[in-house]
Amino acid sequence: MNVQWYPGHMTKAKRMMQENIKLIDLIIELLDARVPLSSRNPDIDELGKNKARLILLNKADLADERCNDAWMEYFKARGCFVVKVNAKSGAGLKQIQPVVQEACREKIERDRRRGILNRPVRAMVVGIPNVGKSTFINSFAGKACTKTGNKPGVTKGAQWIKLNKQLELLDTPGILWPKFEDQQVGMKLAMIGSIKDEILNTEELALSLIRFLVQWYPESLEKRYTMADGIIAGTDPVAVLESVAKVRGCIVKGSQLDITKAAGILLEDYRSGRLGRITLEFPDIGNK
Ligand code: G4P
Repeated sequence: MNVQWYPGHMTKAKRMMQENIKLIDLIIELLDARVPLSSRNPDIDELGKNKARLILLNKADLADERCNDAWMEYFKARGCFVVKVNAKSGAGLKQIQPVVQEACREKIERDRRRGILNRPVRAMVVGIPNVGKSTFINSFAGKACTKTGNKPGVTKGAQWIKLNKQLELLDTPGILWPKFEDQQVGMKLAMIGSIKDEILNTEELALSLIRFLVQWYPESLEKRYTMADGIIAGTDPVAVLESVAKVRGCIVKGSQLDITKAAGILLEDYRSGRLGRITLEFPDIGNK
């Protein structure tokens, strides 16, 4: 599949981030735990060099727990601070504050040597669209601090959300566009729902997901669609999708299977977690 998706505001968003990055001590980079590499934007390494970095593996509730742990090790081995979170429920958020202090220990020490005591760490939250930035900011900052500058042009200059004496967040999340010259990356971002369905072939996407599930998580399909073992093992993905159509009653014109509808159901079941906790890429094989 050839994914054609080029967001128009890319340059503007990048310029705004360059401006904002000067103001902060720490970058909190949100990744989708189901696709930690594909949801990374390599620009952030260049934009954020010399800044402390905290990676949040968000939507950890939707990802395979063994893979979450493996990804934590992967990023830690590369010198990053990492916390796995569920921004929606708030799980894991309590662990962030001590890790922030640890990640910014150098800055805190430097301040202390200069006689500056208790200056809060200033952080910016960055990530690709739909990774959960707004949800995270709202739940981390608490209900009282809802978005204030979400409309373009409203926020003049930087506004800060004071979380406590030790931490302030820039109120506008840095939106990074995903990079997917690699078609596999585009496909995975589409599977998790970060690229709009209208510009993709739903059936092709569902078939790719089925191919992956048959190899790595066959029981998820068997359980959700009550399929016999035989249907999954070694079967052509088209047959699996036809089974989904039958089980879900996707029928048109009397008796014909509505494959497009079945593909949509399967993708929604995956994205919402109804197929189980499934990670689409693994540390040892990376993006492949
Ligand atoms: P963004 O600012 O980075 O673009 O993302 P946003 O916070 O709008 O979140 C995108 C979607 O992801 C939202 O779902 C949000 O609820 C969901 N989400 C964020 N963090 C988590 C998480 O840790 N776990 C799970 N399961 N979901 C998460 P939505 O469908 O757009 O809205 P709704 O379901 O909340 O109504």
